[in-house]
Amino acid sequence: MTVIAVVNRKGGSGKSTLATHIAAYLASLGEDVMLGDVDRLQSSRLWLSLRGAEQAKIHGWSIDEDKFARPPAGVRQVVLDTPGGFHGFSLMKVSMHADAIVIPLTPGVFDRMAAAESIKELRSFPRVATGKCRLVCVGMRVDGRTGQATELAAWAQSQDIPLLGCIRMAQAYARCMERGLSLFDFPSTKVEQYLTDWEVLKNWLDEVLSAAPAAPGSHLTQSERLGQGSSKVGMSYPVVRNSLA
Ligand SMILES: Nc1ncnc2c1ncn2[C@@H]1O[C@H](COP(=O)(O)OP(=O)(O)OP(=O)(O)O)[C@@H](O)[C@H]1O
Ligand SMILES: [Mg+2]
Repeated sequence: MTVIAVVNRKGGSGKSTLATHIAAYLASLGEDVMLGDVDRLQSSRLWLSLRGAEQAKIHGWSIDEDKFARPPAGVRQVVLDTPGGFHGFSLMKVSMHADAIVIPLTPGVFDRMAAAESIKELRSFPRVATGKCRLVCVGMRVDGRTGQATELAAWAQSQDIPLLGCIRMAQAYARCMERGLSLFDFPSTKVEQYLTDWEVLKNWLDEVLSAAPAAPGSHLTQSERLGQGSSKVGMSYPVVRNSLA
């Protein structure tokens, strides 16, 4: 079983959008996926309820924030959405079961400060500190016409955390959320302009799924290495022009 949690104490940073897309990507690979929602608002659960039967199947798992326990046996892949303000003992319990934690990172100084707090707290947990639970971040709602991607890449480098790409700001994501869909439910030719933003994250997910559980002090995956040389990753973003009105 692989457990991937999406965490950032900043509300509205894109956790549910990222969690649902990760779950849908894994489902599109034919994986048996469970999307767990620790959030009292249950955004991911609502998204699942809107999802048509013709879409790749994702199982739901509603979890009480204070009573998070080991995911049900027999499930192969688990993706966990968490609420804004999630920290402390509840977050530590999630980290005890997670193989990887993805932090969505929105541009803006207060957003970066909140993300830094989350990263600091997560690194104080043994499973993260020993490298058994991987920690990466992904830029969200990035305007490709600005220097936001470069700023996020520099910030990630200063935090010593791999940045696995920047997801551009696009109405397509809000529309997907409203319909229980993700980009990965469309023919790739229809959404290819957006899919380029997901390349590094998708490669990383493939690596995480195929990797044996990370050993203490284990090496970075290829995608994490690429993401850690943030100047290399950052280079590709400013040239991505947001073609959406
Ligand atoms: N790449 C994007 N482009 C445009 N809008 C986006 C993008 N990603 C997310 N959004 C929108 O931003 C808002 C917040 O996203 P989301 O609900 O995923 O955040 P969240 O971190 O789960 O919020 P909360 O902390 O309230 O649970 C939503 O309206 C969503 O549709
Ligand atoms: Mg949410």
